Amino acid sequence: MKRISTSVIMEMKNSGEKITMLTAYDYSMATILDQAGIEIILVGDSAANVFAGHSTTLPITLDQMIYHASSVVRAVKRAMVIVDLPFGSYQGSSSKGLESAIRIMKESGAHGVKLEGGAEIQETVEKIVSAGIPVVGHLGLTPQSVNQFGGFGVRAKSESEAHTLKNNVHILQEAGCFAVVLEKIPAKLAADLSNHSRIPLIGIGAGMGCDGQVLVVNDMLGLTENFKPKFLRQYLNLHGEIKGAVQQYISDVKDNTFPNTDEQY
Ligand code: KIV
Ligand code: NA
Repeated sequence: MKRISTSVIMEMKNSGEKITMLTAYDYSMATILDQAGIEIILVGDSAANVFAGHSTTLPITLDQMIYHASSVVRAVKRAMVIVDLPFGSYQGSSSKGLESAIRIMKESGAHGVKLEGGAEIQETVEKIVSAGIPVVGHLGLTPQSVNQFGGFGVRAKSESEAHTLKNNVHILQEAGCFAVVLEKIPAKLAADLSNHSRIPLIGIGAGMGCDGQVLVVNDMLGLTENFKPKFLRQYLNLHGEIKGAVQQYISDVKDNTFPNTDEQY
């Protein structure tokens, strides 16, 4: 089985085959995604939300990201595993960013890292790339800077914001990113950026014109309750399925129908 590498991802961009990415944070889920044939597994700092119950991604630590990432890496035979550098592990210092990226690569065995931002992280991206570490960028809605924007709304709706975003895609591409995630921006802008970029742009809430798509796996499987933004397609209702199974288990135990005679020694 051929492992997915940055060159495979680049070939997909060039041939027009869409790139698929989903998040995972643990061994069991990563095993399923890998067997299903997903190309990139993102160990997202959205673990802070869906695993730990925080309302933003800010609290998760580098050590916690490494724990999630190493669990995912142990499950994966084919997919490329990309890990988010968490808030506070790279902002404002390119040497700190490089150190954090090296820790992720060494301690988890992942295949690359993702960082949020544009011009302000150019030097950091260059340093990490020159250390031989594949880097994915992340522009548009960047949840680590939610406090600066004051919300999770659609980004780059104005001409000037769109212009800045376009510049930042170019900066990240030239700095050596092999892909960039575009979160929650107008579809027309994302399509235009994808048409003009050498590297693949992977969208979440960025429309059909991107080179690939990414979703938070807990959201697309319906494990998360009460999170239904317009861009999210929910493929299952696991929250309801699991709750039903647990209720059945409770009633079976209470009724003395579990375990039965075949289920004991
Ligand atoms: O942390 C995350 O899940 C992400 C995706 C939404 C791209 O960064
Ligand atoms: Na993230």
